[in-house]
Amino acid sequence: MIQKPKGCNDIYGREAKIWKYVESVIDATMEKYNYNYIRTPIFESTELFHRGIGESTDIVTKETYDFTDRGGRNMTLRPEGTAGVCRSYVENKMYGDPTQPVKVYYNGTMYRYERPQSGRDRELTQFGMEVLGSDDPLSDAEVISLAVNIYKMLGLKEIKVNINSLGDKDSRDMYRKALIDYFKPHIGELCEDCQTRLEKNPLRILDCKVDADNELLKNAPKTIDYLNDESRERFEAVKEYLDIMQVSYEVNPNIVRGLDYYNHTVFEIEAKVEGFGSNNVLGGGGRYNHLCSEIGGPETPCIGFASGIGRIVLALELEKIKMPIVEDIDLFLMYVNEEEKKYAAYLAQELRMAGFIVDTEYTGRGLKGQFKQADRLNAKYVVVLNSEDLNNNEIRIKNNKTKEEEIISLDVLIYYLDEQLNAGVEDDYHECHCGNDECSCDGDCGGDCHCHHHE
Ligand code: HAM
Repeated sequence: MIQKPKGCNDIYGREAKIWKYVESVIDATMEKYNYNYIRTPIFESTELFHRGIGESTDIVTKETYDFTDRGGRNMTLRPEGTAGVCRSYVENKMYGDPTQPVKVYYNGTMYRYERPQSGRDRELTQFGMEVLGSDDPLSDAEVISLAVNIYKMLGLKEIKVNINSLGDKDSRDMYRKALIDYFKPHIGELCEDCQTRLEKNPLRILDCKVDADNELLKNAPKTIDYLNDESRERFEAVKEYLDIMQVSYEVNPNIVRGLDYYNHTVFEIEAKVEGFGSNNVLGGGGRYNHLCSEIGGPETPCIGFASGIGRIVLALELEKIKMPIVEDIDLFLMYVNEEEKKYAAYLAQELRMAGFIVDTEYTGRGLKGQFKQADRLNAKYVVVLNSEDLNNNEIRIKNNKTKEEEIISLDVLIYYLDEQLNAGVEDDYHECHCGNDECSCDGDCGGDCHCHHHE
């Protein structure tokens, strides 16, 4: 039997419904913050990721899926979304758009050749957002608050925001020197990769997976002690905006992130749920003011964030969050002979167009089997189509829970179903946007304020 590639997943059934729900909350929340959806290619030229993410990062040296296309070009399956978004911003000259900053979000598959384990896949789905063209600390705070709000809208409670600052170029240079001075006398105690990282990119030693538990790494100098005044003030401003937005966070000087493009603000959001294991970071991001220029565009200050949908779904399940997932159908249509079957085909179409969730029989089951199937599909109502009833313009409809059956005129079927299914559900007027100054219903009038919106 041919099996799926290692580290990839088939998402189907109830899990697929949870994914769709998570994605719908992401879409709705992004809309509130006025982020526009963007789709960029799943593969890009290899050079983009080398220049963007950094030659000495684990992602680029060990984890990319590289291939040569039939025209001999070097291509890479995207390991993340930020570099592609920047390429698109530059290539489409979005920087010329007067409505800076450009605020976009995406949701798609990324590819990293990692050692698969719970929460770590080779094909992963990430959603992410990027703000391109603003250096305002308010945009840093907004991205963090947006990420937190998506988790909150989904119902996750046990989350923790860790933030840190890497500072500007001068601060980073000072920090780099401090790291080299610190690690040099002990370099023999670190892995081979770290030995080459020392001169090339000592920051990468700090997120080495091999040496992660080495005390040397834990006691290494912290970025925050090397920030110059400007960087420190900027970090203070980000924190102040977070306080104003009532977003809780902790300053964690150990957050350095695994990609090279960051400067100033970096952050990660953790799930504090038991059972999550070591891959409990739901998402991470930060500021990257030099990526656009690195790939040939103008110097553009940017900030963004990304989060793995698989990890979110895991957190929702571990926190046992109740989700509004539709796991039943309104009506199951049964039939015995060909004439009834044709009517089922017609009626299913009519009822679906009227907005009901309707299913019928497709595999030749007898009536007993069809009743069982209706139960499996959690049908709220069932109809056994019967030629005689149909000739009388009638239909037998049964409440599949109470087992009560009624014979009604075919002409009123839609009204009947509507009334039965929506019984006790009041029309929702909570968002009364009638614009009528006289209207004082606060959206709760139930239609009694008689303004045009409710008519
Ligand atoms: P990242 O930290 O590499 O950042 O990935 C962000 C999130 O993607 C992780 O926190 C995790 O939830 C998920 N993720 C990453 N790798 C895997 C994997 N192998 N399996 C499952 N989930 C995974 C970025 O990708 C940056 N582009 C974020 C960013 C956007 N920075 C600025 N803008």
